[in-house]
Amino acid sequence: MKLKRTIYIGELNKLFIGKEVVVSGWVLRRRDHGGVIFIDLRDRTGLLQVVFEESIDPKIHELADEIRIEYVISVKGKIRKRPPGMENPKISTGEIELVAEDVEILNTSKVPPFSLDEDTSEVSEALRFKYRYLDMRAVDGLKPFIFRHRVNKSIREFLDKKGFLEIETPFLTKSTPEGARDYLVPSRLYPGKFYALPQSPQLFKQILMIAGVDRYYQIVRCFRDEDLRADRQPEFTQLDLEMSFVEEEDIMKVVEELLVYLFEETLGITLSTPFPKISYREAIENYGTDRPDLRFDLKLKNISSLAEHTSFQVFRMALKHGGIVKGIKVPSTFSRKELEELTKLSQELGAKGLAWIKYNKNASSLQEKWSSPIVKFFETSILEKLEEIFNLEEESATLFFLADEEKVVNSVFAELRKHFAQRLNLIPENTFNFVWIVDFPLLEWDEKEERLVAVHHPFTHPKEEDLELLEKDPLKVRSKAYDIVLNGVEIGGGSIRIHKRELQERIFKILNISPFEAEEKFGFLLTALEYGAPPHGGIAFGLDRLIMLMLGKKSIRDVIAFPKTQKAQCLLTGAPSEVKIEQILELHLLPGWERKAVAK
Ligand code: AMO
Ligand code: AMP
Repeated sequence: MKLKRTIYIGELNKLFIGKEVVVSGWVLRRRDHGGVIFIDLRDRTGLLQVVFEESIDPKIHELADEIRIEYVISVKGKIRKRPPGMENPKISTGEIELVAEDVEILNTSKVPPFSLDEDTSEVSEALRFKYRYLDMRAVDGLKPFIFRHRVNKSIREFLDKKGFLEIETPFLTKSTPEGARDYLVPSRLYPGKFYALPQSPQLFKQILMIAGVDRYYQIVRCFRDEDLRADRQPEFTQLDLEMSFVEEEDIMKVVEELLVYLFEETLGITLSTPFPKISYREAIENYGTDRPDLRFDLKLKNISSLAEHTSFQVFRMALKHGGIVKGIKVPSTFSRKELEELTKLSQELGAKGLAWIKYNKNASSLQEKWSSPIVKFFETSILEKLEEIFNLEEESATLFFLADEEKVVNSVFAELRKHFAQRLNLIPENTFNFVWIVDFPLLEWDEKEERLVAVHHPFTHPKEEDLELLEKDPLKVRSKAYDIVLNGVEIGGGSIRIHKRELQERIFKILNISPFEAEEKFGFLLTALEYGAPPHGGIAFGLDRLIMLMLGKKSIRDVIAFPKTQKAQCLLTGAPSEVKIEQILELHLLPGWERKAVAK
């Protein structure tokens, strides 16, 4: 390098007029006006107009003639004030420009496959991920990562002040219990044995509490081989915490303080605490999901007991088969075609159909007030009850009903709620609505496996007052677990843990995990619990999700530097990829007869 950079572009301003500087960066734009060539040069910190004037130095001008978009150059020259009328108030260097006296072309560039001069969100992900370095170099491309850096920094500042120690835990480990599929790593030294990549540091952080660490945290990668969605990646980052000698409220308090600090530091937003808490039951009853978006109302109402007294067969049959009927009031009216589309949408979501009734408060006759093919099955007294239940105060509204198994009704309505809110513009912008979900059931029945499974993980402590129900009525037992939901996205979850071996063994028994299996999988934890484990608990945040929401992005892929696609591929490197047969042999991944065949 002939020219050595003396300053970042972002540091330049009017005070530098008349001074000599060397700046380095990439060429965003180039305009040739005959005797004068203008280049917009950018580095990580800003954008600067550079002028190459033939009248100043024909040689420099000639060199500038070769420069193309995305070339890497260093330019030496003097800062001068732009001529009046040529200022650009949009950029911090808009009042000045650099008059080139010397230039060094450090590298050339092919023409990029998409424009780097604008926001790339319209470019296909396939192209953006393959050329992620260009995507990031594009206008605003680095913004999420600069923000993410600041988030990590604030988290570390806060937790350090609160006495948390950042301790790393292994990636090559034993299968962990978060319930997803493991990524396995074959062992070369132990034929037929495997490490598992951690789904979370859960067991290690518990062991750290037993080790006396008292307050632990880690910003840590977790690995889960599951079906991907906009808010799920096979490897993602958790902010993982654990504390000793605490109850639920202590952890929630620290978390709220952390979030207040984080939002203040990085977004300048003051959150109000404490965040509301609602029980799992309430969440399911009112919103159909344990991650409700509370930025808008649209509550569900269970009308099963009323539906029983209608003559609508769809409702009656559902109830007869143990199902439920729920309804929602939407403050709007819909055309026939729209109602058909909504029915179709519900069916795609898993419902059998969608019943609706249009309500018109000011209608003179009963018939005009309630219009729907199904009102004929409803007596006047029932319609009056509906008016009461749904608090029908608006001029006009539409009631929608689903009758089915409880799970189906809830899951379909959870989606429809979001659909209506978006459609009717009921979601306020720039709002961060946090809610804690508490009083989760400890266990649920797994239809496929035909056994009880842990709702969170098997180390979650049951509520003290429900302990006696463990064997008698296990599905009634509530846990000391909590999730934190932001704008309808589960951003974190945690619990108070079991810290006594007897209780842990009791839970394993209920989960149908044999003492042998428990010993084999979690023996190290069971042993550790016998050596003075303190009461402890913690939480883990999905950091990618939190950052996605803070930045108003739609996908966590936008806040991960090198994300995988929906199909778990890395388009930049081409992973996963084939490996040499020698590597496979070395890892003992072929059965004996195949090894012999390969050897021949
Ligand atoms: P859990 O499994 O709920 O808890 O995970 C904690 C949080 O991690 C985020 N998350 C994900 N983010 C992106 N991609 C994924 N595939 C993914 N899976 C989960 C979610 C979730 O709330 N050990 C426990 C925590 C504890 O009990 O302390 C655990 O891992 O935002
Ligand atoms: P049908 O009696 O099948 O003609 O249905 C009458 C109305 O009820 C239609 O609008 C259907 O979309 C709706 N419907 C059918 N099944 C259900 C269901 N399980 N829950 C709610 N509405 C339904």
